[in-house]
Amino acid sequence: MAKVTIDNIEIEVPDGTTILQAARMIGERNKADRHVVPPTMCYYSKLKTSGGYCRTCIVKVTKGSEKDPRPMPKPVASCRTNVMDGMVVENTINADLIESRKSVTEFLLINHPLDCPICDQAGECHLQDLSYENGKEASRYQFERRTFDPIDIGETIKLHMTRCILCYRCVKVAEQITDGRVHGVINRGDVSEISTYIQEAIDNDFSGNVIDVCPVGALTDKTFRFASRVWFTQPLDAHRDCPKCSGKTVLWMKGEEVLRVTGRKDQWGEVEEFICNTCRFETKDKAAWTIEGPRKIDRHSVISQGHYERKLQQKLLDKAAPDAPSIEPFNIADR
Ligand code: SF4
Ligand code: FES
Repeated sequence: MAKVTIDNIEIEVPDGTTILQAARMIGERNKADRHVVPPTMCYYSKLKTSGGYCRTCIVKVTKGSEKDPRPMPKPVASCRTNVMDGMVVENTINADLIESRKSVTEFLLINHPLDCPICDQAGECHLQDLSYENGKEASRYQFERRTFDPIDIGETIKLHMTRCILCYRCVKVAEQITDGRVHGVINRGDVSEISTYIQEAIDNDFSGNVIDVCPVGALTDKTFRFASRVWFTQPLDAHRDCPKCSGKTVLWMKGEEVLRVTGRKDQWGEVEEFICNTCRFETKDKAAWTIEGPRKIDRHSVISQGHYERKLQQKLLDKAAPDAPSIEPFNIADR
């Protein structure tokens, strides 16, 4: 076991734990301490070898370990650096580190268009949240930005390469969840791009998961595109008997209509279980699903601002016990 202190909060974790995982353990132990968890744009706990590409998770190690207390000279990627016994880490309490993260954010935004008003990912976009928390007012970049025409990757997925931040998550999905990978990063440096090999469509039962793992709006669901802003929909936990996957999903409803089906995401914005394309793209009839109840959106997000979950609970409560006191209004600190 190793003792590590992150932003003055101590935790004991098994050897081999990364700084990021230790910070998440602190956040899971006490919701009020979640602010110490560094943001992640490429790491995904359910995908092997993810992380190490985006640098948003950087932290400052001010004491290496009990045995060797020297600080690490530069910020390190917390998703790729293991804790050592006695290590002291600074994240939100280090002003220089916050400045460095702002620079990383500025770098990620160099080529990313500000098309949030028309992007399907708005409201669920990790880059939007990162920019809100760490963005600078203006970019210093003066050169021409790279742009691409959107392309279809098969029948159901649209790729907007201009929005891609090259986090490699979709490549890891293609490599680890689907068989017969035909999708990856071609070229290097500022001409790198996500591509399907000779424009082959991703035709595989689990290919739709690239949409769920994409932190930005680069890979979108063609069956949902422009159907609704996500914060106007009502997410419901639902399941069905599926021979290919667990069948546990979230239905994004407008009235009685199922606009979109996705995997269920945890408090870190990662899907709990990958779902198959039949559930995602082909089962849009509400009657085919067993509804469990409103989805709790645990990650702070504009979706939770609709107060939908509380409203629904209140509606159910009003029906069952009209004299019961009202449910407390939504409080962002709960998240
Ligand atoms: S398309 Fe999305 S998931 Fe794939 S590398 Fe780009 S940003 Fe990451
Ligand atoms: S999340 Fe650690 S480098 Fe991207």
